[in-house]
Amino acid sequence: MSVSTEAGRASARQIDAGSYRVTVAAGLRHQFARAITEAAAAHHYAIVSDAAVASLYGEPLTRSLAECGPVSLHVVPSGEEHKTRDTWARVTDGMLDAGCGRDTTVVALGGGVVGDLAGFVAATFMRGVPVVQCPTTLLAMIDASVGGKTGVDTPAGKNLVGAFHPPAAVLADVETIATLPLAQRRSGLVEAIKHGVLADAAYFARIESALPALLDAELAATLEIVARSVEIKADVVRADEREHGRRKTLNLGHTLGHALEHVSGYALLHGEAVAIGMVLEARMAERLEVAEAGTAARIEGVLRRAGLPVARPRELPIDAVVDATRLDKKARAGRVEYALPARIGAMAGEDSGWALPVDDQLVHEVLA
Ligand SMILES: NC(=O)c1ccc[n+]([C@@H]2O[C@H](COP(=O)([O-])OP(=O)(O)OC[C@H]3O[C@@H](n4cnc5c(N)ncnc54)[C@H](O)[C@@H]3O)[C@@H](O)[C@H]2O)c1
Ligand SMILES: [Zn+2]
Repeated sequence: MSVSTEAGRASARQIDAGSYRVTVAAGLRHQFARAITEAAAAHHYAIVSDAAVASLYGEPLTRSLAECGPVSLHVVPSGEEHKTRDTWARVTDGMLDAGCGRDTTVVALGGGVVGDLAGFVAATFMRGVPVVQCPTTLLAMIDASVGGKTGVDTPAGKNLVGAFHPPAAVLADVETIATLPLAQRRSGLVEAIKHGVLADAAYFARIESALPALLDAELAATLEIVARSVEIKADVVRADEREHGRRKTLNLGHTLGHALEHVSGYALLHGEAVAIGMVLEARMAERLEVAEAGTAARIEGVLRRAGLPVARPRELPIDAVVDATRLDKKARAGRVEYALPARIGAMAGEDSGWALPVDDQLVHEVLA
């Protein structure tokens, strides 16, 4: 596929993610329709997007797909609070009203919220139709659109109802990051930094030196990190589709991160919470002597320079955070398990299923 770019230099990258391919390119949205029909030709195309993304990118995609067959655009309100079964019901009802049948391809155009929701719609509509993921946030490009997890939130917790439903293709246009608010860009970068820590020290160093370009959404730098992060995530997922082993390493920073996010009432963005979680979990790993000394400081350094938080916000009580770590993780012999780094570029715990139980006492200490 030839892709013209504004920068002229950033070229397209394709990554084999097992059963599907991830294409990353600048300006790719101008060729979404062709790529969608190549990956999952259908009688009807149902685009799912949120209000913010649809107003920016919905109309041109609808128009170009309309040349290939009937198209319907299903716009949901923006925000995690709409990643619900109610929204799922409204979208599937809308698809039925629009005449979608078994021969439909769902197109997810948006961030991770839209990707998870539209993926779950596709997994369940007529017992399963293809989905093409067109992620428009850094987080969705490097994390949410790869791996096949889909789902919605419930009052009892996030992502509790869902399905594994790998996409037919992932199409990431890095030019769309230009319209993404800076705080969202920063938050997405945290997952890329995480990928460097868990699998590739050279990649971590490249992110360190490219930080200003990345925060500026420069095309070549953005393309490079999206492509490398997708490779890393795809490798890990391929080795362990259903999260029995190595996929747990992707949880680095997330056990404490999810707890902080939850206790903050979601005032912390996901990436901000994971940034803090990654620093504190690396400190735990050093205390347990599973990580090289200096690992936490290096992670903290790059996150600080990216303008991300690296310590527990004072208003979040330590006890509440420790309690919250028990909510979404299985405990082993009463102790919560953590995915911990061994050093920049490698994880600890291969012999114990990539997850190590940690005493609450130590968790308290690093939070203090
Ligand atoms: N399935 C997975 O493996 C996986 C992995 C990680 C995260 N997730 C999920 O992803 C979700 C978070 O995704 P997110 O951070 O992308 O949030 P999001 O989808 O809510 O997007 C963030 C905000 O940016 C706006 N936006 C999106 N693209 C834009 C663009 N190009 N320009 C301007 N504004 C834009 C959206 O309207 C929204 O307000 C969570 O629900 C999380 O559970 C899933
Ligand atoms: Zn995450």
